[in-house]
Amino acid sequence: MKAAIVTGVTSGIGKAISGMLIKQGYDVYGFGRDFSKIEHDKELNQMKKFQIDLTDIGLLTETLKKIKKEADIFLVVNNAGVAYFSLHEEMNPQKIHEMVCVNLEVPMVISQLLMRDLKKNKGTIINISSVTAKKTNTYGCCYGATKAGITSFSNSLFEENRKYGVRVITIHPDMTMSELYRNADFDVGESADSYILPEEVASTVKWVLEQRDGLVVTDITVRPQKHLLSKGKRRK
Ligand SMILES: NC(=O)c1ccc[n+]([C@@H]2O[C@H](COP(=O)([O-])OP(=O)(O)OC[C@H]3O[C@@H](n4cnc5c(N)ncnc54)[C@H](OP(=O)(O)O)[C@@H]3O)[C@@H](O)[C@H]2O)c1
Repeated sequence: MKAAIVTGVTSGIGKAISGMLIKQGYDVYGFGRDFSKIEHDKELNQMKKFQIDLTDIGLLTETLKKIKKEADIFLVVNNAGVAYFSLHEEMNPQKIHEMVCVNLEVPMVISQLLMRDLKKNKGTIINISSVTAKKTNTYGCCYGATKAGITSFSNSLFEENRKYGVRVITIHPDMTMSELYRNADFDVGESADSYILPEEVASTVKWVLEQRDGLVVTDITVRPQKHLLSKGKRRK
């Protein structure tokens, strides 16, 4: 069975991608911290769950080395991410560290540890970046920089490994209905044309995975029709 490593599976985009991959027949090894959020999800019960704070790079490394011994890894989805928004002068250094670690360092470490398996299997890495990678981001200077970093890393990693048959794909979602904005004083807009759904990002991932051998969609951007935000937290 083809194994897929997916980070940030307990909500939003990672949860939707994991569900899609299970339906496609992958053996999903999912990483997250709070699995109570998905304990009633029958489909995701089939996932092998790893409760781990990804900022613990030592534990992450140890866990991946164990998984490598039992699983035939064909796919890695670097999805876990965290976002804090404020003027940069007001940003807490611990939050800067967390964003740089989860959004950028962790995908780099995972890619390093698993690249030889992916080369053997002509596998795929999918990095979930963001439209913020492609623009300036006031109140999100650090978050946007981590996303520009992962996009740059992803592009270079593809060039380095394309001759071995490894696909490296960067997805750039715009405003998506998830828990990402729980730390922000804004959220996605109210109307359906002002956000995308996690399942729609998962469908995009499914589509890029379906492309024939020899063709790689290296970079894809998914946006809602309108740019509209809601002030304050989303109403439940
Ligand atoms: N939502 C958007 O508008 C949007 C737009 C563009 C790009 N993105 C990107 O999409 C990706 C997924 O985000 P989302 O929108 O689905 O947000 P989300 O609902 O907040 O999901 C984030 C996931 O990352 C996990 N995570 C965060 N920090 C972690 C840590 N230290 N250790 C382990 N797991 C951790 C969370 O797990 P726990 O809660 O269990 O810790 C959760 O499963 C992120 O990379 C984000 O930057 C989102």
